[in-house]
Amino acid sequence: MNTDWQDAGSAAALVAGGRVDVEVDGLYVAIVRFEGELRAFEDRCTHDGESLAEAELEGDPATPCGVVVCPRHGARFCLKSGAALTPPAYEALRIFAVREQDGRLQVRLSDTGA
Ligand code: FES
Repeated sequence: MNTDWQDAGSAAALVAGGRVDVEVDGLYVAIVRFEGELRAFEDRCTHDGESLAEAELEGDPATPCGVVVCPRHGARFCLKSGAALTPPAYEALRIFAVREQDGRLQVRLSDTGA
């Protein structure tokens, strides 16, 4: 696995609260800006492999880092740690380090952003 920062596209795509979906080293990675913070997670629910491309992002007073909700069966994951917060998922979502450099998004698959 590559341990370096890898380009993930233009940061301009996130200006309007959108998201960037990118394939890096064979993994589908979603990058979002949630409440001002960049977050990157694998675009695959740990329950049954559903894409999280249509997933809702929610604030949650009990989970200040924000929550991503799988559109298929409703499992909820912490956007910062990836922890599975509600069934039917029990395994954490993979979270990656992400940063913005000179207008470009970069992710690092070797470690988490938590
Ligand atoms: S596939 Fe995501 S909760 Fe079932």
